[in-house]
Amino acid sequence: MAEQSPALDNLLSESRTFPPSAAFAAQANATADAYAKAETDRERFWEEQAERLHWDTRWSQVLDWSGAPFAKWFVGGKLNVAYNCVDRHVEAGHGDQVAIHWVGEPGDTRDITYAQLQREVCRAANALTSLGVSAHDRVAIQLQMVPEAIIAMLACARIGAMHSVVFGGFSPAALRTRVDDASAKVVITSDGQYRRGKAAPMKSAVDEALEGAESVEKLLVVRRTGDEIGEIPWKEGRDLWWHELLDSQPDEHTAQPFDSEHPLFILYTSGTTGKPKGILHTSGGYLTQAAYTHHTVFDHKAGEDVYWCTADIGWVTGHTYIVYGPLANRARQVVYEGTPNTPHEGRHWEIVQNYKVSLYYTAPTLIRTFMKWGDDIPARYDLSSLRLLGTVGEPINPEAWMWYREHIGGGSAPIVDTWWQTETGGIMISPLPGVTHTKPGSAQRPIPGISAKVVDDSGTEVPFGSGGYLVIDKPWPGMLRTIWGDDQRYKDTYWSTFADAGYYFAGDGAKYDDDGDIWLLGRVDDVMNVSGHRISTTEVESALVSHPDVAEAAVVGATDETTGQGVVAFVILRGGTAGGTASDADNSETVNALRQHVAGEIGPIAKPRQIMVVPELPKTRSGKIMRRLLRDVAENREVGDVTTLADSSVMDLISAGLHKGS
Ligand code: WTA
Repeated sequence: MAEQSPALDNLLSESRTFPPSAAFAAQANATADAYAKAETDRERFWEEQAERLHWDTRWSQVLDWSGAPFAKWFVGGKLNVAYNCVDRHVEAGHGDQVAIHWVGEPGDTRDITYAQLQREVCRAANALTSLGVSAHDRVAIQLQMVPEAIIAMLACARIGAMHSVVFGGFSPAALRTRVDDASAKVVITSDGQYRRGKAAPMKSAVDEALEGAESVEKLLVVRRTGDEIGEIPWKEGRDLWWHELLDSQPDEHTAQPFDSEHPLFILYTSGTTGKPKGILHTSGGYLTQAAYTHHTVFDHKAGEDVYWCTADIGWVTGHTYIVYGPLANRARQVVYEGTPNTPHEGRHWEIVQNYKVSLYYTAPTLIRTFMKWGDDIPARYDLSSLRLLGTVGEPINPEAWMWYREHIGGGSAPIVDTWWQTETGGIMISPLPGVTHTKPGSAQRPIPGISAKVVDDSGTEVPFGSGGYLVIDKPWPGMLRTIWGDDQRYKDTYWSTFADAGYYFAGDGAKYDDDGDIWLLGRVDDVMNVSGHRISTTEVESALVSHPDVAEAAVVGATDETTGQGVVAFVILRGGTAGGTASDADNSETVNALRQHVAGEIGPIAKPRQIMVVPELPKTRSGKIMRRLLRDVAENREVGDVTTLADSSVMDLISAGLHKGS
């Protein structure tokens, strides 16, 4: 079990509760009896949720778990995911409703109705087909938050091709690993992007990534920055402008139904080893959970609400709660291209005010950033349209929760703290708005239809008031089906820890309070959570040791006031450059080079906040690095028990060297 940081201890003494207002409860989508109903007949419950969708062929069996841990949901059912997210709303007479209020960073805007979205998705589907993309093929997408990203994803879904969206902040090397792992046939990117008020090239990095990539036949380029970034490098025969290709395509396309278990997408996420895992999601079960949770947890009312999820489509939150869930539910949503402080720190609140956003979903790290910027900023805007707030990605500290409630939610909007993962596909643990008496800092209960427990090492559920590991003890529709190309790793990673009980091991520590509510305590494995982004310590360590100056490296996630955790690296330089006494200042050039190197290997999000040059690393007799001790150093705590170290003086050496350096 990972040690708890002081912040989390603090979180566990929180005892405030906030009942829903009578007015909210009276109109809520969620009802208290859903828990019992789902418990009595889980499969029937999920069947009812699947009925939210349009199926061309109804399933013959709700769940086939005979090949556990490989699940099949809605067996025999057929549907088209894109049809469900777009066409059926147009056919039901809502073609003129805005689907996407897109806001560009420089201030340009586009409103896209469901009818327009349908035409664009059809064109894109025809375009991909014309390039020879067919069902089961993989399309890699590295795009910033432009409507084309959503259109491209839906076009893939429409023709049964799988998308693999790669976050724009990933380096060319990271993009290449993902393109190769999935053997992507087509890649989609843009010429450049606006970031913090400036246009920056994007395609050139993708070109670098794709140098010699054998699977890639075509690179589609969305025009966003145009002339502003100068000449765009072009590879004849491979590169095509998105708009030119789409302009020549008919805007009608007949969506074919696919099997409920037809693969929908791969999304890579960090695991405990260096190699990212391609999480595979399929169609019917995933879309069911996406639609159900978006409806219930966000209390979404089609035709009334204006919804805004601030995530990036490069992460699972963008997949499930910008693309699939909201569009399946005919949401009208804001999609914002840029950073929250461009051109000013009130940008989000200005957008909320302008579009009368009613449901707002973001990450704790951003809330803490808003807090730092000051209460007066949101106070300048009319936020009265907001009626529900959500958070995701990491535990939210009670202080940030309270600030969110008071300064953004007007002291009354319910807050849903939603726990889930790339692997779970959709929300798993969350308060139900209008039902739950919320507690600042707790995600509280598995939502109706989901069963999760906190267990000890042996898989036995711990009593209320105690902590342990979070497990999911019953299969759920949105669950990952496997790791792309590696069934064994899927079994080993998620199902081997509690194999006897047959539980899915989430990798998170958790605690029950005395009421049985769940408090998430962070990862118990070697995965860090930086601004809600998962980064593995091993991945950063391999990036560091791939630099010629580094002999050895150990990386830990240290508590960070704003980002949740920050990456802190301890490195031993080759040839003993540091020699145990050299100060950080002496090494500052190397340290800077190493930070850049990590950004180049993985992406700027993985750049260590701090790199400490040390003469030795603390290791056990069997050679395992004791990260716990390094975390003590990184978090400026007294170093804990060193008795299991092979050489117990190592920590003194490290501390001495660092103090001299600081
Ligand atoms: C963490 C993001 C506490 C957790 C949807 C999980 C959370 C990992 C919460 C998954 C929350 C996510 N409270 N911790 N409400 N939500 N996490 O795959 O450690 O990017 O395992 O999915 O984020 O991150 P992922």
